[in-house]
Amino acid sequence: MIYLDNAASTWPKPPGVAEAMAEAVVSFGANPGRGSHQLAVRASRTLFETRKKLAALFGIRNPNDIVFTQNTTMALNIAIKGWVREGDHVICTAVEHNSVRRPLEYVRTKCKADITYVQTDETGILNLDRLVEALRSNTRLIVCTHSSNLLGSILPIAEIAAIARSRGIRLLVDAAQTAGTIPIDVGKMGIDMLAFPGHKGLLGPQGTGGLYIAPDIELEPLLHGGTGSQSEAVEQPTVRPDRYEAGTPNTPGIAGLNAGVQYVLHETVERIEAKEWALTQRLMDGLRGIPGVRLLGPPPEIVRTGIVSFTLEWMEAAQTAFVLDRDYQIAVRAGYHCTPLSHLCAGTMGTGAVRASLGCFTTADEVDALIQAVRELKQKQ
Ligand SMILES: Cc1ncc(COP(=O)(O)O)c(C=O)c1O
Repeated sequence: MIYLDNAASTWPKPPGVAEAMAEAVVSFGANPGRGSHQLAVRASRTLFETRKKLAALFGIRNPNDIVFTQNTTMALNIAIKGWVREGDHVICTAVEHNSVRRPLEYVRTKCKADITYVQTDETGILNLDRLVEALRSNTRLIVCTHSSNLLGSILPIAEIAAIARSRGIRLLVDAAQTAGTIPIDVGKMGIDMLAFPGHKGLLGPQGTGGLYIAPDIELEPLLHGGTGSQSEAVEQPTVRPDRYEAGTPNTPGIAGLNAGVQYVLHETVERIEAKEWALTQRLMDGLRGIPGVRLLGPPPEIVRTGIVSFTLEWMEAAQTAFVLDRDYQIAVRAGYHCTPLSHLCAGTMGTGAVRASLGCFTTADEVDALIQAVRELKQKQ
């Protein structure tokens, strides 16, 4: 099988991930932070080691400012629902994923917050003037995806952060498509909160993710419950990360994530980014030469993430993905990719699109196989 659905979850995982998970189950299946025996300490250490690696990767000073979550969605929910208050105004872009849009729409209804969706162009590129025009005196949060999961466009996070900072507004970045594939330094870029998945570019297993919360930000916790700390207190502990990590964590998953992040740190994000960009260009070049193929996203000279979405004028998106899977053993995704907003921008709301997404283990041969398959579909038309 040729796996080109890495934007959903990366696969395969590097050597060491499955082994680390198995070791956590087989050798020290204890509950971290809930006991002082050797096995519980080993489990706690695994969590802290993973936090330290993530902190090194994202330029975070204190690893305890990173909270483990099940995925990006949970991290975004903790940040949005924990920060937005009644009467606040929030700005986001018109290429957000439903995992940003739905919690925002929830707080719009629940807390009478107001939201402005700042339009991008049809390729997913944001004009900063539009963002500035959307600012209001009660704007308290900007939420922005780092890269559109349909169009692959990369949004100018450092510039957005500078605009936010100059007005005392906080910036939450959805790094679902960039953590581990594009360099991120929260300090240098001015990011206040960073929501990231463990199961995509960080090469860990599903069921893992995280949220970085700047030290001076206090969020209302989303979940309340046991943390193994301050057990005598009725309220949720104030200490981080416990305040935002109620309940037993996914220790085996985080052990796997530890190995995934180790691989990324060793390989370096810069090298992964360069490799994926070279293959992305190769795929766009090949598909562009086939009549009737419409490529979505920025023009080829603009760097994007490893996402190439397209429509075929002679075949529906769902049918294309089905035939690629059945006849060519190529796994791509069709439909709306949880981002109807981006389809509105791209003008593909009625049709959806096929999305091929590359990962750090994708090869040139695999990219060529997809190009050849689409060529054959054209010939058979
Ligand atoms: C831009 C973006 N945001 C959020 C998500 C949700 O990520 P998760 O599945 O980790 O919750 C995705 C998933 O594909 C995404 O692409």
